[in-house]
Amino acid sequence: MTTSTLAMIIFAAILIQTTILVLIGLHRRKKLQKSQQNQVTKVVQHSSSQEDVLSNDQSFNSVFPWSGYREFRVLRRKMEDKNNSICSFYLTPTDGKPLPSFEPGQFLTFKLQIDNPSSGQSKTVTRCYSLSDRPRPDYYRVSIKRVPPPVGQPDLPAGIASNFFHEQVHEGSKLLAKAPSGHFHLMNDKNLPIVLVAGGIGITPMLSILNTLIEGGLSREVWFYFGVRNGDEDMMKNHLRMLAETHSNFHLHVCYSAPNEDNEEEIDYHHSERISIPLLRSTLSLKRYQFYVCGPQAMMESLVPGLEAWGVDANDIYYESFGPATLIKQDRSEQERLESEPMTITFSSSDRSLPWDATADSLLEFAETNDIDVPSGCRAGSCGSCQTSLIKGEVEYNQQPDASTEPGHCLLCIARPKGDLVLEA
Ligand SMILES: Cc1cc2nc3c(=O)[nH]c(=O)nc-3n(C[C@H](O)[C@H](O)[C@H](O)COP(=O)(O)OP(=O)(O)OC[C@H]3O[C@@H](n4cnc5c(N)ncnc54)[C@H](O)[C@@H]3O)c2cc1C
Ligand code: FES
Repeated sequence: MTTSTLAMIIFAAILIQTTILVLIGLHRRKKLQKSQQNQVTKVVQHSSSQEDVLSNDQSFNSVFPWSGYREFRVLRRKMEDKNNSICSFYLTPTDGKPLPSFEPGQFLTFKLQIDNPSSGQSKTVTRCYSLSDRPRPDYYRVSIKRVPPPVGQPDLPAGIASNFFHEQVHEGSKLLAKAPSGHFHLMNDKNLPIVLVAGGIGITPMLSILNTLIEGGLSREVWFYFGVRNGDEDMMKNHLRMLAETHSNFHLHVCYSAPNEDNEEEIDYHHSERISIPLLRSTLSLKRYQFYVCGPQAMMESLVPGLEAWGVDANDIYYESFGPATLIKQDRSEQERLESEPMTITFSSSDRSLPWDATADSLLEFAETNDIDVPSGCRAGSCGSCQTSLIKGEVEYNQQPDASTEPGHCLLCIARPKGDLVLEA
């Protein structure tokens, strides 16, 4: 082999090697470009999906509440307690349009068409149920306790609406509901630490308030007192325990008034007693708080005045009644009846004029006592179903109404007369 042939072979080998290296380099570069392109696409896709979420949230917060009733479909049902007596219903609007936000603590008013199998007829029943989760753009949640007949009276019918929900409302069922409303809700005007006090199913508006505060980063200290009889009635147990373990600003006090044998202190509950002012005093430090209270009659009657007697400013106490059973009843004595000015209440459609009984809590109670048929729902000024035209005279309200009324109308369930009245009922 000549020197020139050897030189050509070496040159060709170097050329081939260089070409291979260039090709490998080009391939790698192309691969890198492709992967970079993919990454860019992913980032773009990711940021555009974030934008979607953002724009959804923005539109969610700017959606206006609807008027009248809107149709919802039940997305999901979930039992929340060991007794299977509390069921959550997740509701989405059938029109597919976004849901308006709401103030945590507010409720939905449902119009239900319930069949009576014995008469073969159906009747319209109006009931309010608090929203039990924070506002979300795609669904609302309510949690409903099945109401049995009163203790010792098993022959009386069980609660009509709550049992209808438990027995006849399934995934896919359709329901009519008014937009969220109510004056009992989280107040953000004062940045005070918060005490949420819930008895039994009174926990629902508190869950909405708590979940909203957690979502916002829990900048305010929250003390949560939840009272039930025992572990069988304890609801959303894992959710509350998990929040207490993961948020140092959230202090959970679960009270069982009559724990079962298998309920363990410090694991299932913290206090074997009812929620009381002495318990609040011994567990809260001495400073200003905002109190929110919702629970059964006995709890409301002892705690709300008890907080004021302890020195809590009435403006820092917010409470909600779940209907007549939990309203703080006025103590209207026979003396009051004797001392009150005589007044005549005329029910024009029924063609009856009756002397007002000052021991009656409301015009609704007075009408019912006298067998005058007036539609009613919540009996707490919330649902609007007892709205009646006030043809003549004036009324005063026992409490601030949540339902709005048409001009010249009043809510009989929370109204008392200021003088002679003519009502269209
Ligand atoms: C603002 C607001 C929010 C609410 N939020 C919730 C919530 O989040 N969750 C919840 O579960 N509830 C809530 N409630 C309560 C709810 O609206 C209903 O009042 C509750 O479900 C009972 O309704 P019902 O139709 O089942 O019972 P009803 O039919 O009204 O019966 C009530 C009770 O009367 C008894 N009764 C029936 N007939 C007679 C009779 N002839 N004589 C004597 N007693 C009789 C029944 O057995 C039952 O014990 C809320 C109420 C309000 C006002
Ligand atoms: S019964 Fe609901 S507002 Fe009177």
